Amino acid sequence: MRLLFIGDIVGRAGRTIFLELIPRLRATWRLDCVVANAENAARGFGITETICADLLAAGADCVTLGNHGFDQREALVFINREPRLLRPHNYPSGAPGNGAHMFETASGARILIINLLGRVFMEALDDPFATAAREISACPLETGCDAFIIDFHAEASSEKQAFAHFVDGRVSLVAGTHTHVPTADYQILPHGTAYITNVGMTGDYDSVIGMEKEEPVRRFLTKLPAARFEPAAGAATLCGVGVELDPRGLAAKIAPVRIGGRLPQASPEFWPIEQEAAAY
Ligand SMILES: [Fe+2]
Ligand SMILES: [Fe+2]
Repeated sequence: MRLLFIGDIVGRAGRTIFLELIPRLRATWRLDCVVANAENAARGFGITETICADLLAAGADCVTLGNHGFDQREALVFINREPRLLRPHNYPSGAPGNGAHMFETASGARILIINLLGRVFMEALDDPFATAAREISACPLETGCDAFIIDFHAEASSEKQAFAHFVDGRVSLVAGTHTHVPTADYQILPHGTAYITNVGMTGDYDSVIGMEKEEPVRRFLTKLPAARFEPAAGAATLCGVGVELDPRGLAAKIAPVRIGGRLPQASPEFWPIEQEAAAY
């Protein structure tokens, strides 16, 4: 089974490359599942119903959020009618929407996705470790589902690594999101879970974590806000990881995906890429 996980889509630049490339990559790579974090898709802050619908129509099976999930207040409402849009699962009970989604692929495989928020250097929700343990025992790999994907949205690398080891061998993929810079530690952990500390954002990397750089630099210098943060509008890099699963739902291969924009380009050598996308 083939999974593609795409990191935080930031603003129009991030949306544009996602909408342009995903339909082609999905077909060329014969992907079974595409998950995209889109907590920054609407002008850098949150997501709107229209944007969510566009990402799903382009080929995302599931869209995840994070600490910015409800920055656009309409998400508090429309998330209740879109089961493929996930906010962190460890919100206190009563939060709108869901934090977990299971769907069946065309070939009948059951894929479970959950979104969790870390607690170190962030607003602390319920314990993400306990939340994950509960979901894993309710829906274990092989008997309950055929692939189990976790978007662990967290600031601290230590928390993400500790979490990944905690679930190693029990889920297919732990994809770290939120910090917006791709890390080079993509790997298959000893018991078979694919892991990366941060997938990286899908946005313009001539920026400060996806935002036009002038205002963040000014704020560091003056400690005063002078303008709104705006997403950087240059060419974006589509950032993600590609994962190939074995029949047990554990990882056989993982590789980074970086297409377009300023970053060094990368795509899984175990999935040949079409010329058109390669030349993007
Ligand atoms: Fe983000
Ligand atoms: Fe975030």
